[in-house]
Amino acid sequence: MSIIQNDSFLKTLRRESTPYTPVWMMRQAGRYLPEYRESRKKAGNFLELCKNKNFATEVALQPLDRYPFLDAAILFSDILTIPDAMGLGLYFEDGEGPKFNNPLHGEEAIFKLDIPDVEESLSYVFDAVSSIKKALSNRVPLIGFSGSPWTLATYMIEGQGGTDFMKVKKMMYSRPDLMSHILKINAETVSRYLACQIKAGADVVMLFDTWGGILSHHEYEQYSLNYMKVIISNLNILGFEDIPKIIFTKGGGQWISKQAKIGADGIGLDWQTSLSSARKQVKDQVTLQGNLDPSILLSDPKVIESAVKKVLDDYGVGEGHIFNLGHGITQFTPLENVLVMLETVRNYSKKFH
Ligand code: CP3
Repeated sequence: MSIIQNDSFLKTLRRESTPYTPVWMMRQAGRYLPEYRESRKKAGNFLELCKNKNFATEVALQPLDRYPFLDAAILFSDILTIPDAMGLGLYFEDGEGPKFNNPLHGEEAIFKLDIPDVEESLSYVFDAVSSIKKALSNRVPLIGFSGSPWTLATYMIEGQGGTDFMKVKKMMYSRPDLMSHILKINAETVSRYLACQIKAGADVVMLFDTWGGILSHHEYEQYSLNYMKVIISNLNILGFEDIPKIIFTKGGGQWISKQAKIGADGIGLDWQTSLSSARKQVKDQVTLQGNLDPSILLSDPKVIESAVKKVLDDYGVGEGHIFNLGHGITQFTPLENVLVMLETVRNYSKKFH
């Protein structure tokens, strides 16, 4: 194993001491960066950026080159690569978000759904991981990721983003057998997918459970959390106990104590949950990641500085906090506001360590 030069992110996931609070941003490689928009124009579209390892590497490194205070890189890809590999036919229409040509409808199609040959059909993702890892020259660790089984299922069944989730919820309540079948296949596929990302060079893996928060208190554990637990156990059985694992259920702040018990090293929080109350619940056993409201970055430097300090103050003294946004950075974020946030995190957080 080679030594990573800036290992503050890894150390924080292991709850070891660091001189300051490490930071990265969800969607840090994205449309708020003019250089990203330029690369996307060259590639033709977003999926081509994901499928061509040279483009994926170029855009994954752009935020790090612009902002040297970032303490982690993230694979450039999308969570919807898995349903695409299952044959659902992913496409993006400009400004509209993801859609599928063949969403999962009907019992027959659902029982035909199978675990894809991950190594073969998603090889472009693992090629991107190796290429990004190499280009990083061990500057900072590389995060690999996947959608959670539940969040993938919402897109597979709804057929697109931005819905009211009636199709997926109807299936869950009326045909729990079909729902569990899909979730089992997703969990097995995600386990293999993340194992391949780790083998290709990912230092940490993260599960994005973007839509776990739409579940009721009675269903969250059964339909989302338990399948994330299966993935963590599978990775541990495969020998990846030492690879830190982060889970992030958006809107899941009321279930933190349950989340802390599935073997994850880190829990991501959105901005609706207080870091200090979360910290009390996890009793300092798990690292917390978050949780600035990304909309604050649309304001001005004074407001941003004060909001960043509030987040750091809320966590307080000691190890175990990774600064992040509570969700992805928006495309309308001014570049200088990101710099203000990163500088404030780096300078102000020193007093807590
Ligand atoms: O920098 C990074 O964080 C890495 C790249 C990354 C992307 N998507 C690139 C992307 C990551 C980690 C994701 C995860 C992802 N994708 C999630 C989970 C995180 C979250 O945001 O909740 C989800 C739900 C998706 C599905 C998805 N992909 C949606 C809903 C959209 C459209 C919304 C939007 O912002 O346009 C995408 C497209 C997407 N994925 C873009 C990027 C950079 C924008 C594509 C473009 O250039 O137009």
